[in-house]
Amino acid sequence: MSTAETFELDETGKIDITDIYNKPDPMVYYSTLNDLDYQIPETAKPVFQRFISAYRQAYGKDKVRVLDVGCSYGVNAAILKCNLEMEQLYDIYASQAGRITQRDQLLAHDQTLMEERIKDAELEVVGLDISKSAIDYAVAAHLLDDGVAANLEAGAPPPEAAAVLDEADLVISTGCIGYVGKKTMKGILDANAPRRPWMAHFVLRMFPFDEIGTMLEDFGYVTEKVENQTFVQRRFASEDEREHVLQRLSELGIDASGLEAEGWYHAEAFISRPAEDQAATSIGELAPSA
Ligand SMILES: C[S@@+](CC[C@H](N)C(=O)[O-])C[C@H]1O[C@@H](n2cnc3c(N)ncnc32)[C@H](O)[C@@H]1O
Repeated sequence: MSTAETFELDETGKIDITDIYNKPDPMVYYSTLNDLDYQIPETAKPVFQRFISAYRQAYGKDKVRVLDVGCSYGVNAAILKCNLEMEQLYDIYASQAGRITQRDQLLAHDQTLMEERIKDAELEVVGLDISKSAIDYAVAAHLLDDGVAANLEAGAPPPEAAAVLDEADLVISTGCIGYVGKKTMKGILDANAPRRPWMAHFVLRMFPFDEIGTMLEDFGYVTEKVENQTFVQRRFASEDEREHVLQRLSELGIDASGLEAEGWYHAEAFISRPAEDQAATSIGELAPSA
């Protein structure tokens, strides 16, 4: 039995891995998620890259600021800024296991990694996460340009959070909707007003996006779902988790055949932009069918 199979299920039927989100460094995060073949930052990467590039073209600016919601230890930041793959991140941290015993050593290792591998120096990535440990690590390691630990589901952003959340050109997320919903997105919009950042969220099919979509509509956004394509997130940790998730999907009227029924979580991509920006790039260009 792998470590991942020993976690309890939470109320949504997913395994509860909150514990791995709150360690002083990302070693356990990466080893556990590698066990589960977690790959949504990788499957989302080409869409994010096209999305960032479409924004740059539409607004004629190279330097852009991305806010990653539920950023954890800066996974999307590392992938997008350094053009890394998830597999490389897993290898990088696995290769440090046993060699690096102190958090400071790992921080120094990651700072060097970011300096050596940076590919898109004009891309600023800031992060929001409920986990202070993850944010502290990602900022100190220079994976994130800035970050804030806050739970916007519980209330409006504190003043120190607003300064990190504002000035966002784009807002992205992987694996986070479900933990967060419309309150968090509204808090981000309020912090940015009157600016309306473009948004791209990868959302498990068991978590409807409707409430967030409706709230965004009130701010003049149009949300489009990438059609005829799903994005693999990870495999189920256990038969128990599979059964609960299939049950939940069935209750939502979602056909799991060929997708979750094969043993993997699948996410959908939702792209939300102010109505007047929608024509800038078609959804088909952002996520061409395979
Ligand atoms: C599955 S992880 C995804 C992390 C990262 N985006 C990735 O794909 O590797 C979910 C993240 O959501 C964060 N999270 C949970 N509740 C949150 C909240 N209320 N506000 C912000 N982040 C939250 C967790 O701490 C965790 O880092």
